Amino acid sequence: MKAEITASIMCADLLNLERDILALEKAGVDYFHYDLMDGHFVPNVTLGLETVCEIQKRVKVRSDFHLLVNQPEDIIPLLDAGVEDLIGFHYSATKNIDKCLNMIHDMQANAGIVLDTNDHYELLEPYLDNIDYVTLMMIRPGFAGQPMVDGMIEKIMETRKWLNNHEKHHVKIMIDGNVSYERARLMHKLGGDILVAGTSSLFKGDMSFEESLKTFEEYTSHKELY
Ligand code: DX5
Ligand code: ZN
Repeated sequence: MKAEITASIMCADLLNLERDILALEKAGVDYFHYDLMDGHFVPNVTLGLETVCEIQKRVKVRSDFHLLVNQPEDIIPLLDAGVEDLIGFHYSATKNIDKCLNMIHDMQANAGIVLDTNDHYELLEPYLDNIDYVTLMMIRPGFAGQPMVDGMIEKIMETRKWLNNHEKHHVKIMIDGNVSYERARLMHKLGGDILVAGTSSLFKGDMSFEESLKTFEEYTSHKELY
């Protein structure tokens, strides 16, 4: 099965946002990835909730919320998300992980925990029955266009194996940061199901969104190893 592609909206042309979101919807991208930041959990702010709401009114693309905020339990109730949408928050952002997962499931949305580059996947163990996906950061979060942290490709493979060993084949892995076409091939092969497309691919400006998604499809249409 090919990888699903989620377009990192913070990497779109923010002065031509309407043009880009309509073109991405037409091109058939799987999700819109919304990085919501509070300026504290990460030292940056990109998209605000109001902007996201306007985008959601304008297109039918499924929403993939990446919450880069402290105490995600405060913002989760403000999100417009349902059965097809994704909401993920960072492991280290809250002491109330179960509460956050339950809040997301009460909205019928899919719940994910985001692991920073230095968070070990075994931290997920107590929550395995309550998560739909895990996001593995390949970079330090908050900014686009950063180099990949060492060891992250191996982490994808190890996390997939570990999930499968725990009978959690259905728990998907999202990969965030540094997803180029060439790396997408390996990331998908090793167990990445959903790939965040940012400045390394979709928004690089070297091809149209249609061509970019077609390239992803070509590079990720093969059997996974695990
Ligand atoms: C960074 C964001 C990503 C970002 C990654 O914190 O979560 O969505 O856009 O894309 P690249 O690394 O390709 O710029
Ligand atoms: Zn993100």
